[in-house]
Amino acid sequence: MTRVQDRAILPTDLAARMARLERQFGPFARQIHHHFEVGSTSDVLATLAREGAPHGTVVVADMQTAGRGRHGNSWFSPLGSGLYLSVLLRTVASPILTLAAGVAIAEALCAATGIETTLEWPNDVVVVHDRDVRKVAGILAEATSDVELGDRVILGVGVNLRDTAFPPELADRAGSVEGVSGRQVDATVVLGELLVALSSRCAQVEAGAKTELLARWESLAPMCHDTTVEWLVGDRRHCGVTEGVDEEGRLLVRVGAQKQRLSGGEVRRVRGHPIRR
Ligand code: BTN
Repeated sequence: MTRVQDRAILPTDLAARMARLERQFGPFARQIHHHFEVGSTSDVLATLAREGAPHGTVVVADMQTAGRGRHGNSWFSPLGSGLYLSVLLRTVASPILTLAAGVAIAEALCAATGIETTLEWPNDVVVVHDRDVRKVAGILAEATSDVELGDRVILGVGVNLRDTAFPPELADRAGSVEGVSGRQVDATVVLGELLVALSSRCAQVEAGAKTELLARWESLAPMCHDTTVEWLVGDRRHCGVTEGVDEEGRLLVRVGAQKQRLSGGEVRRVRGHPIRR
């Protein structure tokens, strides 16, 4: 075995381990494409989707050279430290879908490793210790629609599994599952739990069970109540206090006497205790 393979995070018996979970995946993961190195798993999956790959197809890689994050950021994706995967959903995009994915990641990390994570709107997965908040996972949902191939959403998920030398701009806010739990984690176990949870939460969205899903999301996301947040509209900074999410998953924010609904963009917590209720 070469040194490079030693550091790979997914084992060579990935297929066998996934086959054992097959019945819990529902329509998910009937095709899993595992690569050692890609630019972005979401780009690889977009090509497969254009070629007709079915709903639930998964692309997972040991490393990415051009991993993408939200808001045009890159996603740090070195070999041996994270789980990088994308899942194809042949469905219409909705904000609820990204909230569902956040819930699925939080549940999967808890099932696979025992760690308790918190969600920050819309879908950062963080671990809070005292006042230190560390992002351990993120979701990038990219939607496309065309007449020939219909609606599709590529859900890209990045999980920091092992501590690594994060670039300076991430060093004060990125964390890893192993760093937080103090235990070694098996990437294949996390991947399996993630696909089981995503399958079940996405089915819930398709079945229209929004109320249950939003309630679960809110229970994992203390910052969506009584927390002072700020966000930018163009160059202007706005500030308000969170009051939950609406039925479409938009963040409700009280600004003076008015209530605003935020449907995207970056929201930064200014005050409020990020501890789970
Ligand atoms: C975020 O900015 O929080 C979202 C990060 C999403 C990263 C994942 S890693 C797998 C998939 N491929 C990508 O290029 N991005 C997503």
